[in-house]
Amino acid sequence: MTDFPQLPSSFLWGVSTAAFQIEGSTTADGRGPSVWDTFTAIPGVIRDGHTAEDACDHYRRWEEDVSLMAELGLTGYRFSIAWPRIQPYGKGEVNAKGLAFYDRLVDGLLARGIEPVPTLFHWDLPQALEDEGGWLQRDTAHRFGEYAAIVGDALGDRVTSWITLNEPFVHMAWGYALGVHAPGRLLLLDALPVAHHQLLGHGLAAAALRERGATQIMVSNNCTPVRPASDSAADRAAADAYDTLHNRLFNDPLLLGRYPDLSAYGTDLDGVVKDGDLALISAPLDALGVNYYNPTEIVAPAADLGLPFEESRIEGVPRTAFDWPVVPDGLRELLAGLRARYGDALPPLYITENGCSSADEVVGGRVHDPERIAYLDGHLRAIAAAIGEGADVRGYFAWTLLDNFEWAEGYHQRFGLVHVDHETQARTPKASFAWYRDLITAHRAP
Ligand code: BGC
Repeated sequence: MTDFPQLPSSFLWGVSTAAFQIEGSTTADGRGPSVWDTFTAIPGVIRDGHTAEDACDHYRRWEEDVSLMAELGLTGYRFSIAWPRIQPYGKGEVNAKGLAFYDRLVDGLLARGIEPVPTLFHWDLPQALEDEGGWLQRDTAHRFGEYAAIVGDALGDRVTSWITLNEPFVHMAWGYALGVHAPGRLLLLDALPVAHHQLLGHGLAAAALRERGATQIMVSNNCTPVRPASDSAADRAAADAYDTLHNRLFNDPLLLGRYPDLSAYGTDLDGVVKDGDLALISAPLDALGVNYYNPTEIVAPAADLGLPFEESRIEGVPRTAFDWPVVPDGLRELLAGLRARYGDALPPLYITENGCSSADEVVGGRVHDPERIAYLDGHLRAIAAAIGEGADVRGYFAWTLLDNFEWAEGYHQRFGLVHVDHETQARTPKASFAWYRDLITAHRAP
């Protein structure tokens, strides 16, 4: 670790997880069905028909998992709260047993000196709300605000740092536009209101949490630096259109209080955005959560398939098991781009997800995962470089603690610092776990 650039002593060292991907126990203690339970039950949509009924059994093994976090020396843990555990049908009555799980978890974290950073929505909408239109309906934003108030009442005496939404872009695009994630709607551009309703939900939830003592509120946006495949005007226009959809559609309203020009998509969200919405959405954030995995290269579409861009393959770089390009400097580029675009309107940043999948196996009780170490090392160095250039990055949450249920890929992609045997639930810390632990120790040492 001697040649590793020193990150600020106040830097928050964390890992990130999501309820549906790790908890299992999907019918325990009164939990209601979520859109992901419904979706995973449809034959053919999840690779090899995997389901998350057991996931990592974290609902029952959480103490063991918190011990692993303590062993890493973490100072923060980002997890998500399953709305259908709190309100099984998305509105009305509170399920005390579901709430009690997060209450225990928060106390367990605090007892180990780990700051709890809950995310209120990581894609597991109560199915009952989806039956009424889900995030296509404005009403869902109001239900989300009520749910935030319930959770804030229960945990707000100990939790001060909150994330309202996880990756509203990915949820809109994969869940409502392309149909490859729950709720499996294939609406293409008709999915755009889902962006606004999630952001409105954020605004309502943030206001409810503030009233309950929250001092740090964030959204975790999936951000990608977008590169045109060539310098041609057509490719640059296509890249600009993609950047608008993936990045600006979610960052501009939060940070600038307005939507970007959506004319490339033939809409201005007229009729969807009501008076007062943008003021609520743009109430100052204390920090922005940035989830970064890779940059995106865009070309002008070869055929008219209804979208103003096409993705092209980034060549000449290593790739993860998921076939995602590994470009650590893309994170530095992204952080510099955010500063250039938003200037003084950009709040402090946390990297709330970053990591890679690899084909890890336990051999003789050990898991050798040099690709993950190289990935994390490269990206943390990119953060240090960005801080050197003036970026205000306050912390890092590696994705993720445990090999888990990777959405449409089932258990095929292993992103964890800890290997999980999905038959026995045995946890085996990987070589990257020791690497991350040592890096944290080196930074936390007086
Ligand atoms: C999501 C995680 C997911 C990870 C890797 C992010 O988009 O927030 O839930 O597991 O990427 O695919």
